[in-house]
Amino acid sequence: MDLYAVFGHPVGHSLSPRIHRLFAEETAQQIEYERREPPLEGFADAIQAFREEGGHGANVTVPFKEQAWSLAEQRSERAERAGAVNTLVCGDILYGDNTDGEGLINDLRNNLGVGLAGKRLLVIGAGGGARGVLGPLLVEQPASLIIANRTADKARVLAKAFDDIGSVDGCGLDALEGERFEVVINATSSGLDGDVPTLPASIVAEGATAYDMFYSAEPTPFLRWAEANGAFRTRDGLGMLVEQAAASFELWRRIRPSTEPVIEALRHDTRP
Ligand code: ATR
Repeated sequence: MDLYAVFGHPVGHSLSPRIHRLFAEETAQQIEYERREPPLEGFADAIQAFREEGGHGANVTVPFKEQAWSLAEQRSERAERAGAVNTLVCGDILYGDNTDGEGLINDLRNNLGVGLAGKRLLVIGAGGGARGVLGPLLVEQPASLIIANRTADKARVLAKAFDDIGSVDGCGLDALEGERFEVVINATSSGLDGDVPTLPASIVAEGATAYDMFYSAEPTPFLRWAEANGAFRTRDGLGMLVEQAAASFELWRRIRPSTEPVIEALRHDTRP
């Protein structure tokens, strides 16, 4: 059996093993998929040991995505831009890709029917989560993309790093007053502590889609806020998680699993 693993710290809660086992069943692939939790300073050693064991590929999650980027000997263009790698392919050389943006876009387009071309887009947050998806979002050619962050300067710096791909600007959260967006994406880690960034109600345009890159069994605080402020559709990041996994699986196995039954199965698992 070919060996794969997800590396993170902590990683005990990761749904990746379940997702990849379901993909493997569906596509009749013989794989083993484990969780690995190296010490914070031990990521490079853990990857080396994994390769020596014959590991074929890995997913990488918080807090190791930037280290995985440094470790990769060759990187896809989108990983290069993201400054982070979520997928490693262990061949003669270590290849790094980032499938997070593709995962987000595929979930929006294929599972929700929301295309981004020509839309007014808002990304809230300017950390690693936002950085990972900006390039692929801009490639979809939205009418405009605004990055808004509690710390406005971080949003401006991030926008500058991507403004050769498309129209993108950065600002603080208060500068959003009176603005309207058709797609609003939460890429902050605020939901993790049950918090919502302070946002003006105006940002949710009529018919808008609100997307939270995080997921939980209960609606996230951001999605509850969006719904209360008139969002037409809300979606948490479970679909994105499964879609980014499908893109990784295809890189490793050269076969694309279907995602819908897996999203359904996970919703069923996590429903209270
Ligand atoms: P990640 O890499 O997971 O995105 P990060 O780099 O720590 O995490 O960035 C977290 C993001 O969430 C940042 O944009 C942060 O805003 P600041 O840059 O101002 O710190 C945002 N964030 C976290 N908690 C928040 C909160 N309670 N309200 C608003 N924004 C928050």
